[in-house]
Amino acid sequence: MKANIVLLPGDGVGPEIVAEAVKALKAVATRFGHDFEMTEYPVGGAAHDLCGDCLPDATLAACKAADAVLLGAVGGPKWDALPPEKRPERRALLTLRSELGLFANLRPAKVWDALKGASPLKDEIVARGIDVLIVRELTGGAYFGEKGRSADRTSAYDVTPYSAHEIARVARIAFDAARRRHGRAVAPQPGRAVAPRPPKVTSVDKANVLETSRLWRETVTALHAAEYADVELEHMYVDNAAMQLVRDPARFDVILTENMFGDILSDEASQITGSIGMLPSASLGAAKGGLYEPIHGSAPDIAGKGIANPLATILSAALMLRHAFGLAAEADAVEQAVSDVLASGVRTADIASPSGASSAASTSEMGDAIQAALSGL
Ligand code: IPM
Ligand code: MG
Repeated sequence: MKANIVLLPGDGVGPEIVAEAVKALKAVATRFGHDFEMTEYPVGGAAHDLCGDCLPDATLAACKAADAVLLGAVGGPKWDALPPEKRPERRALLTLRSELGLFANLRPAKVWDALKGASPLKDEIVARGIDVLIVRELTGGAYFGEKGRSADRTSAYDVTPYSAHEIARVARIAFDAARRRHGRAVAPQPGRAVAPRPPKVTSVDKANVLETSRLWRETVTALHAAEYADVELEHMYVDNAAMQLVRDPARFDVILTENMFGDILSDEASQITGSIGMLPSASLGAAKGGLYEPIHGSAPDIAGKGIANPLATILSAALMLRHAFGLAAEADAVEQAVSDVLASGVRTADIASPSGASSAASTSEMGDAIQAALSGL
């Protein structure tokens, strides 16, 4: 197939990790006979330095016209002093999300076999299996609600609006994703055959306090009854969900939640898998395409050193192949390459054991290893 991919390397480690994902996409194109046209556009602080705007018109227009967008990361201390609405996070990332209508953010968090030792959780908890998909609402709530300060600037507010329409459309994505994951094997228990797991959605809210959460719960419950009775649905308060994620992550399959809770829970989920450097994400809307990015951010402390882990970005490219282009075999091949390369012992510093840290692979060595695995070398 032919696809037009916009690359937004952005700030910090962004350019380094996007370069490695490009190698993987080129290897996929060669192996499976596709034609991926990839064009870079400036975004974030880098774009601000170039033309005074973190999201130049040409970049936004290119993203709207593209078949899919691959983003590295935006932001860094250099641009922290900009007015809030001009900062990379608000001007570039949040505007992209809302302008492209990307209301659903999929953040899969799983423990890779070769990295079981990297999880900070006890072995017996990890052995039960960690494979959670967080579906985070991405264009509503406090991030986009009215915000402001009193005239004397001593009080402030961020309104958290949600409509039943916004809740139902992201809930549908979560229920559909749970159905797709149905039959996926759970970690084998000693003496027990691998059992298929029924699809389950845990809807996370704070319905004991917040009115938006009460609407959230009502809407999800009604949609479930009307269209998704085959999927198990449970409701959980967000504080309890944060606790259960470290106490018993195996109890989760798909977590559905609003924007801010999803931001927080997905960082927590990434840590229990071992490294935030491994977690990809897909931001989807009603239209085809979508935006794909690692969840880790620009990591200014390690930018330019060639030590960042490119796997979250490479796995984001795999999500792009799967969700934007419907190329399941190609996405599987990328994920298999990551699994094989990890199994062969190649590690960037963030996932190296303390004894192996000094011989850790660089960003480009990891990218080369993935490219070689994809090319069958
Ligand atoms: C994320 C990030 C962003 C968010 C920031 C950079 C605005 O933390 O994608 O999780 O809060 O959504
Ligand atoms: Mg975040």
